[in-house]
Parts: sequence; C-alpha cells; structure tokens
Amino acid sequence: MEIAVKLLVPVLLAGLVLAPAAHARVCAVSIDSTDQMTFSQKEIKVGADCSQVTLTLRHTGKLAATAMGHNWVLTRSADYAPVAMAGMRMTLADSYLPKADARVLAHTTVIGGGQTTRVTFATAKLTKGGDYTFFCSFPGHFAMMKGRFIFG
Ligand code: CU
Repeated sequence: MEIAVKLLVPVLLAGLVLAPAAHARVCAVSIDSTDQMTFSQKEIKVGADCSQVTLTLRHTGKLAATAMGHNWVLTRSADYAPVAMAGMRMTLADSYLPKADARVLAHTTVIGGGQTTRVTFATAKLTKGGDYTFFCSFPGHFAMMKGRFIFG
C-alpha cells in the first residue's frame, strides 16, 4: 500500500508538469504542389484547439524554382488578391511577397521540384470560423493555386 502511494506521487507530479504543454498543441498539415501549377488540396482544416500549425509544402515536380516555383501563403480571403498582386512585383528572394506585410499571416519560402519547405506559425491571430485563403504567390499562379484554410 505504502509503495503504491510512493509510486503515485511522482506520477501525479509529472501530470501537473505536463499539463501546460497539452494546451500548446502543435498541429501538422501538409500539401503537395506540382509542375502542372496545382496544389494537391483545395481545403486545409485545422482544429481551433491548435495553438500552432506546422505546414509542410512539397514540390513533387522537376522544374526549378525560377520557372515553376511554389510557396504557401496564408491571408484573410479579403486580402488574398491584393497581396498576390503586390507579390508579383517582388522577387524570388522576397518569396514574391510584399516585405513585412501584416496581411500575410504565414508563408513558406519558394521551392522548386523535389524540394520541401515548412513553416510553423501561431494561430493566436486567427479567428475561429474566419474566412482564410491559402495560395501560391509565384507570379501568375495564385488564380489556380489557391484553397480555403479552415480554422475551427
Ligand atoms: Cu506556384
């Protein structure tokens, strides 16, 4: 009986220490992109209980980043077209995005065929049930390469 209590106390203490970590839930999602200027999904869902999201973008094609580069950019749906248009005037080094633009909620770098990139971002600035769009900001891609990001 005494042994059981001695064993139980460290287990309870460990539970208390681990409890805050359980609230910081990092959720992993992934999406592929191709030489045909497409994303593999039209929708990405993330639970509202995810405090952080790690998104992995793969480019399953063969073309170089300068010819068929792709990235993954998240904005509010209302900001998607203006940000994509502004990004067209930027360079590959800037990930074809306006510099330090608060409308960009998260983004990866631009990759070419055979490459993988990822970004981890906090969901604190997202609203549950909000209207979000993800897209590729490589010039000319955003009309085809876009989808809904659902947080909730
Ligand atoms: Cu693209």
